[in-house]
Amino acid sequence: MCSSSFERLVPYHVKKISHKSNSNGTSIKTGESTFTEAALKTVTGGSIVGQKRHREESSTLSAAATDSVKEAMLGVACTFQRIIGIRHLATSNRDGATLLIGSCYDGATTVTVSVATSATLLISSAPPRKRSIPMVSCVGSTAGPACRLIDLSLCHSRSTAMEYERIRKVQAVALFMEQIRGGRTQFDPEHIVLTAGATAANELLSFILADPGDGLLIPTPYYPGWRTGVNIIPVHCNSSNGFQITLRALEDACTGAESMKVRVKGLLLTNPSNPLGIAITRPVLEEILDFVSQKDIHLISDEIYSGSVFSSDEFVSMAEIVEGRGHEERERVHIVYSLSKDLGLPGYRVGTIYSYNDQVVTTARRMSSFTLVSSQTQKMLASMLSDKEFTKNYLRTNRERLKKRYEFVVERLSNAGIRCLRGNAGLFCWMNLGELLEEPTVEGELSLWNLILHEAKLNISPGSSCHCLEAGWFRVCFANMSQQTLEVALRRMKDFTEKMKAKQMISSSV
Ligand SMILES: Cc1ncc(COP(=O)(O)O)c(C=O)c1O
Repeated sequence: MCSSSFERLVPYHVKKISHKSNSNGTSIKTGESTFTEAALKTVTGGSIVGQKRHREESSTLSAAATDSVKEAMLGVACTFQRIIGIRHLATSNRDGATLLIGSCYDGATTVTVSVATSATLLISSAPPRKRSIPMVSCVGSTAGPACRLIDLSLCHSRSTAMEYERIRKVQAVALFMEQIRGGRTQFDPEHIVLTAGATAANELLSFILADPGDGLLIPTPYYPGWRTGVNIIPVHCNSSNGFQITLRALEDACTGAESMKVRVKGLLLTNPSNPLGIAITRPVLEEILDFVSQKDIHLISDEIYSGSVFSSDEFVSMAEIVEGRGHEERERVHIVYSLSKDLGLPGYRVGTIYSYNDQVVTTARRMSSFTLVSSQTQKMLASMLSDKEFTKNYLRTNRERLKKRYEFVVERLSNAGIRCLRGNAGLFCWMNLGELLEEPTVEGELSLWNLILHEAKLNISPGSSCHCLEAGWFRVCFANMSQQTLEVALRRMKDFTEKMKAKQMISSSV
């Protein structure tokens, strides 16, 4: 199926919106959430009939961020969703195509539940900040859950310009990155470049490190949201060793690139992995660093889920691996981070490049005007991230909730006879539906995906959209919905699997 003819499914409900004034005269939009219609609209092509597309994982988020910050600053307790009357829309990419699916379930059985969006709402009621002053509410903001915990008034009154001078946003980000890694490594703020999210950071790095036509190695399965402008050379990993990266697979990928006359400039790693939901072990990381040194290529380590490892000891950052290495090896390492996942702030568009290479830092700074973070956003985040107690509680609570959710999902799936890869990180699990495939091919996988979407009313990313070579794997995102919605999704998955297995039994006995 090509992306241009790919269907977009838009389930939505209508919300009545009225305006009223609050005590300081600001107009606030209010609205009772009512499912007047649980319709499943199917539209084709690039535009969505009768609906505004309100949220995309990458390109339109900058606009959403600006809107949400502005709204929050003005004290308007309404959300982008409310303005356009859609309770929750999420997008997911399947081979570059965009699929819009409502991810909120209010009892209407016809609504498709999306477990395809790697976003989190789990931290929406985390421990409040101690110093919190009655604050502007931005509950439900597209900016994500963590902003609900931010004392926005700090941006205006309590924190003086001097205090901000002291805090400095990059220091706050560096400290936060250290805290995530349990203080086992240090980040020098001078080596940090702020970008509008990890997407921009990865794009900027590939632009700096490679020329058009050069190649970047990427272990499969991988998050497909890159715009690198270079050739992606897949490093094929498989289930025989739990999708671990091996030297053999790295060498094979290099040989493949050579045979196509592609110059390999670097390796792009995602640790913890999206979609696998596992953190890469220390020995594998050591091997990878040895490999890039030997090949004289760069290493980009996208550690966007580093704070979402269920137990902090289970995450080893590439920053820890380079610590014991020489200058030359360090200089080829560039770490990418973003607040989109760990803080549930995808709309704020805050990411970083941490590079050990001065030239890369200087070039990235010069080019960062293409991917700036607004100063209001920077101030707000500096304020939040420099509150150590808050971040400590936040990270702990986030980890606990993710772990609990993960275990719940894996157990329920197991009760339904479905196996998952043993994960320890992220907002998703990697589920094996190989047994349900009619044929073990991409086509077989996509036809199963289509069946699940239309029969079980569940949107689950198929592994082939993450360039997984083995058919039958699916990514289940479990953090972007209520417990109630998740239970509905899991029940549907169980019913669907039982039905499929019963069908298989009948046809095999005939
Ligand atoms: C591995 C990985 N990197 C980058 C991104 C994009 O992050 P950001 O929103 O910061 O651009 C995602 C989003 O899902 C991701 O999973």
